Amino acid sequence: MRCVKCGQKAVINMRPHKLALCQDHFLEWIPAQTERFIEKYRMFSLQERVLVAVSGGKDSLSLWDILVRLGYQADGLYICLGIDGGFGYSDQSQRLTEKFALERGLRLHVVDVAKEYGETIIQIAGRTHRGFEKTCSVCGLTKRHIMNRTARQGGYHVLVTGHNLDDEAATLLSNTLNWSPGYLVRQSPVLEADQPGLVRKAKPLCRIYERDMAAYALLRGIEYVYEECPYAVGSNTIFYKGLLNQLEAQRPGAKLSFYLSFLQAKAGGLFAPQADQEIDRLHTCPSCGQPTTAPGDCAFCRMMAKPVQGSAPPGL
Ligand code: AMP
Ligand code: FES
Ligand code: ZN
Ligand code: ZN
Repeated sequence: MRCVKCGQKAVINMRPHKLALCQDHFLEWIPAQTERFIEKYRMFSLQERVLVAVSGGKDSLSLWDILVRLGYQADGLYICLGIDGGFGYSDQSQRLTEKFALERGLRLHVVDVAKEYGETIIQIAGRTHRGFEKTCSVCGLTKRHIMNRTARQGGYHVLVTGHNLDDEAATLLSNTLNWSPGYLVRQSPVLEADQPGLVRKAKPLCRIYERDMAAYALLRGIEYVYEECPYAVGSNTIFYKGLLNQLEAQRPGAKLSFYLSFLQAKAGGLFAPQADQEIDRLHTCPSCGQPTTAPGDCAFCRMMAKPVQGSAPPGL
């Protein structure tokens, strides 16, 4: 197979795009695509300060690499969750993220949940919920809170995450199977900071296949953590990703058209937010000052104040 641009040997054949590229052209194509989506969805400009949430995985480290290559002012944020999983998941992620930043002279903020709040994610989950499967929801809530807070305090215009097309298609499938109108309205490449205290959020890789991101990280020589978070094993997201992979194998491009048709339908007004939902969203948490959907403490502050309820989840 030959590169369609220069005729050299192709390193990748992207069937959904009917595009085979050599290493050099592929490593140019991914940032060019990313830049196109940043501009198309009005995510941020070269003048704005960007905070990249970096987990130590291939997507977020590659995203940081791409943004720096494109000339954006991008700093990193790593949140240490204190998850071991028998192989030091958090330690390994932190080490690789710090190494990446150090080697490139980039600025990285590190927030350690245990140091900051006196408990790891596992301990919070054990204190507030009975079930093992709740760890991910505790983790998600904590990460969202810390991401918004760090971006606000650091004066960043936008917070970006490494969600790729496979992540977005899996979320969309889940939201569609449940017909969750609130989640469907808010699932978007960019979420404007529509209330005081909220920072704009963007997902510049939302139209790029996970497989292509893995190839990018590999060809750029980016060292990343291969393992998934041990708590994600058996999760709905992984199950839906598996289903979508089966579909994609039979119908190349199916994931992309599923996601793009959704964005088009939304742009056409299919999922208009309801007026009462809008009014509901205008509250500020009295404890932390972050926006919340209901009057009183936000979900994160309520979780942190909750007394012991059940036994701790099995230690991973
Ligand atoms: P996940 O929810 O693990 O699929 O991660 C989705 C995105 O959230 C990643 O691409 C990162 O941008 C961000 N993220 C996940 N975990 C962390 C973390 N520990 N610290 C900072 N950002 C994270
Ligand atoms: Fe949070 Fe796995 S990354 S529970
Ligand atoms: Zn080429
Ligand atoms: Zn709060």
